[in-house]
Order: sequence, then structure tokens, then C-alpha cells
Amino acid sequence: MSKSVLIFGISGFAGRYLAEEFHEWGYEVSGSDLLRNAYTPDYVRFFQGDLLDGERVRNIIGSINPSYIVNLAAISSVGASWEIPAETLNINVTGTINILEAARMQAELPKVLLIGSSEEYAASDKPLNEQSELNANNPYGISKVTQ
Ligand SMILES: NC(=O)c1ccc[n+]([C@@H]2O[C@H](COP(=O)([O-])OP(=O)(O)OC[C@H]3O[C@@H](n4cnc5c(N)ncnc54)[C@H](O)[C@@H]3O)[C@@H](O)[C@H]2O)c1
Repeated sequence: MSKSVLIFGISGFAGRYLAEEFHEWGYEVSGSDLLRNAYTPDYVRFFQGDLLDGERVRNIIGSINPSYIVNLAAISSVGASWEIPAETLNINVTGTINILEAARMQAELPKVLLIGSSEEYAASDKPLNEQSELNANNPYGISKVTQ
């Protein structure tokens, strides 16, 4: 059976590069976002959808049955998160819960990767790792800690 990956947020900055990497490693690549854009490679099976629509997320995951899911979809800017804090928390946290809830209903559980940020951690002049002290000070960082 071929390996398959589903990338949420595939139309964003990182999505096309991650799709290419998986494709080169022989994965069947599916992607979802609010809209497909010109950068999405032709080999990507695209599913339009809003992460806040839990039923749509369940249908997408259920129809692909991916071995791996990567969630890149987010309000991804600290500045935007100050402008739209409630929407940032909603998309980044509730949207991620919708993916996790759908994933755990699959007969074969996919592995899910969520993308964190240095914004989760206290400011430091030393390199950060996942044991570093958490101390987010903006809505984006708080949403990433909450994920
Ligand atoms: N780019 C960086 O330097 C960086 C650094 C640290 C962490 N990250 C994280 O990595 C991930 C990818 O970053 P990026 O730079 O590609 O982000 P990006 O903002 O370019 O892309 C995010 C994508 O999410 C989609 N999206 C937003 N709301 C959605 C919704 N409700 N439903 C479905 N899709 C929705 C957008 O349409 C967009 O295509 C994000 O989670 C970001 O927080 C990025």
C-alpha cells in the first residue's frame, strides 16, 4: 500500500515545499485549504474546506484515509493575531481540535503533526527546545501553546 499524506494549509507559504518533499519521497499527496492557489503542484489532490467546519474536515480525512496528516493551516502572524485575537484562537485551536477529533475516528489512526512556534517560549538568548520555559505573550503564541 502506498504511503499518503494530507496537508492542511497547503496553499500557504510552507505548503508547496512540504508537498514537494513528500512527493519526492514517494507519498501520495493530498491537500486542503480555503482555496487552491497557483503554487499548488498538479499532483496534489486538493480538497477545499474551512478548518472550522468540523463535518467537512471529517469528510476530507475520511475520504483520503491518510497515513500522515500535517496541519499547517493557521492565522500565522503575530501582528494579525493582535488584530483578530478571537479568530486566531478559534482557527488555530478549534480548527486543530477538528482535525484531531476526525483523525481519532479513523479505523487506522493517522500520525498527526502540528506546527509549533518560538512564540510559545519565554524570550531567551540561548537556543530553544521543547523543554524551554513556555511564556507566550501574544494571541498567536498562546494559540500555539494551546494546540
Ligand atoms: N513561516 C514561518 O516562518 C513559521 C514559523 C513558525 C511556525 N510557523 C507555522 O507553520 C505553519 C505554516 O506556516 P506558513 O508560513 O505556511 O503559514 P501561511 O499563513 O502562509 O499559511 C497558512 C494557511 O492556512 C490557511 N488557513 C487559514 N485559516 C484557515 C481556515 N479557517 N481553514 C482552512 N485553512 C485556513 C490559509 O489560507 C493559508 O493558506 C503555521 O501553522 C505557522 O503558524 C510558520
